Amino acid sequence: MCGIVGYIGTKKATPILVDGLLCLEYRGYDSAGIATLEKNEIKVMKDKGRVNNLYNLDGINTLEGTVGIAHTRWATHGKPSKENSHPHTDNSNTFAVVHNGIIENYLDLRTFLSSKGYTFFSQTDTEVIPNLIHYYFYNGSVSVLNDNKEKLLGAVKLAIQDLKGSYAIEVISPLCPNEIIVVRKDSPLVIGKGENENYIASDIPAILKYTKNFYLLDDNEFAVVSTNTISFFDNTLEEHNKTIKNIDWDANAAGKEGFDDYMLKEIFEQPTAIRETIGSRFSLGEKCSFDDIEISKEYLNNVNKIYIVACGTAMHAGLTGKTILENLCQIPTVVDIASEFRYRNPLIDEQTLCIYISQSGETADTIAALKLAKQKGAKTLAISNVIGSSITREADYSIYTHAGPEIAVASTKAYSSQVVLIAILAVYFAEILERCDKKIIERLKEDIIDLPSKVEKILDDTEIIKEFAKKVYTEKDMFFLGRGTDYNVALEGSLKLKEISYIHSEAYAAGELKHGPIALIENDVTVIGIITDSNLVEKSISNIQEVVTRGAKTLIITNQILPNSNFDFIINIPKTNFLISPILSVIPMQLIAYYIAKFKGLDVDKPRNLAKSVTVE
Ligand code: M6R
Repeated sequence: MCGIVGYIGTKKATPILVDGLLCLEYRGYDSAGIATLEKNEIKVMKDKGRVNNLYNLDGINTLEGTVGIAHTRWATHGKPSKENSHPHTDNSNTFAVVHNGIIENYLDLRTFLSSKGYTFFSQTDTEVIPNLIHYYFYNGSVSVLNDNKEKLLGAVKLAIQDLKGSYAIEVISPLCPNEIIVVRKDSPLVIGKGENENYIASDIPAILKYTKNFYLLDDNEFAVVSTNTISFFDNTLEEHNKTIKNIDWDANAAGKEGFDDYMLKEIFEQPTAIRETIGSRFSLGEKCSFDDIEISKEYLNNVNKIYIVACGTAMHAGLTGKTILENLCQIPTVVDIASEFRYRNPLIDEQTLCIYISQSGETADTIAALKLAKQKGAKTLAISNVIGSSITREADYSIYTHAGPEIAVASTKAYSSQVVLIAILAVYFAEILERCDKKIIERLKEDIIDLPSKVEKILDDTEIIKEFAKKVYTEKDMFFLGRGTDYNVALEGSLKLKEISYIHSEAYAAGELKHGPIALIENDVTVIGIITDSNLVEKSISNIQEVVTRGAKTLIITNQILPNSNFDFIINIPKTNFLISPILSVIPMQLIAYYIAKFKGLDVDKPRNLAKSVTVE
């Protein structure tokens, strides 16, 4: 998804901007560009392709400006091309803009601006923004003002009043050479405070190496950023103070630290990430507690339904969350895909608790789904990895996975931390509700505490996984089978494989196979089975036997002693409570997807067509 960087200070802006864009590459993009203020004019350097290509553009080395904005674009309106890349300027090259998000009414605005004599050179929605700013600067109510700074801020405000959709915007102009103006709605933007310099970014990691002090811009909030000051304004341009946040992430944690890829690094970080997620939320023999939330027995007793809403991997974490919550709390729990939930007119009211899971906390569908639940009177609880992310600012309660920055597009450590956190949340609720046997809760706590060392054990020996990946990486199709929580994790294994290896794969509840999908099984097709629930071993084995009989090649991921072994590969993982076994069984599947993609020579961290943070609908 598009990324934004901005710099204003005393150093040359270009290297800082390009470096920031490189840090944002993980979000997925197809073009990149920067604009700097050079002796009273805007210089734009942009093209389709990689950020590093910017260094090959004529004249980039001559840029001296100390004020600049930058962007990586992920095409929505118009193909990847130089013309469609950001920054965009108005017809007179007086205002340069970068924009994340989507302007839904851009065609109407183009028609309006065309009628006023403006011309368009790109197919983007964004190009209307600098031209609208130009229009209002010279024709709006602010055009009579003498102070260019006030005039530009006023023109930006008038321009965004015309926009329908989502945006995070940076604006520079030689008419205000000492300021960058920013504003956001439904698309993230942070401002990093430095000494005699300030930074702007759509994502904290882009500027984390320069500062740990951040202002997190709210929806409909404007900021005027200069070298030594940052001023904040509401949507009527009333100035207000804002609290700075210290973001305690280690800048090195956002680097690869000797691993070939971020994804591999993040897979291997799972023991640490899980330890951080557990943190001090519980210890054996003591009741679980959260620093960040306090929920009463009276409230929980009144909850008659829980909704878990999320997208992609986060939704898969939610599926396991449902099983844990229902088992421990006896509250019916529904899991929904955010993009479906928001248009389904879901049956929710004051007695529904809606839990939203999002690693980034910026997923447009998840945020919209959360807002909908609030409108309907439900209480909302956000689970996110990013402190201060949009979803956590909207929700009634927020809890964090503390897994550290996840850079690779394919989510790995976020998934395991999300499942751990929901398990802890379920324990917390169960202890309040007292509907579940204390011994069951205590045993689950022990199993949660043991998880990091069990994950380490799996990561200690990955040879069989590599060997399997080498055997199957040329395949076109694969199948994942499981029952119960093993089915939930089969869905996640299949998603991982698809997104980074581009191998078509399907996950099925093993018992459902004979109702249709078994028709796809033929000689030599690869089937991965997951068997971790002792109550379901026999059932799962008979289902997998059905594919063995039809000639499938099988890999079984299990923590059980299997009665027969006519499977081609078996990966043994440590035993744990079946409720949380997806946290262990997912590890081999993440590694299978990773090694298959490596054997295919693919870019593991930046798979085609995908973005890390999906901030558009
Ligand atoms: O940031 P979020 O957790 O809201 O992201 C949700 C999905 O876009 C994300 O999990 C996606 O499915 C990943 N690429 C999966 O690896």
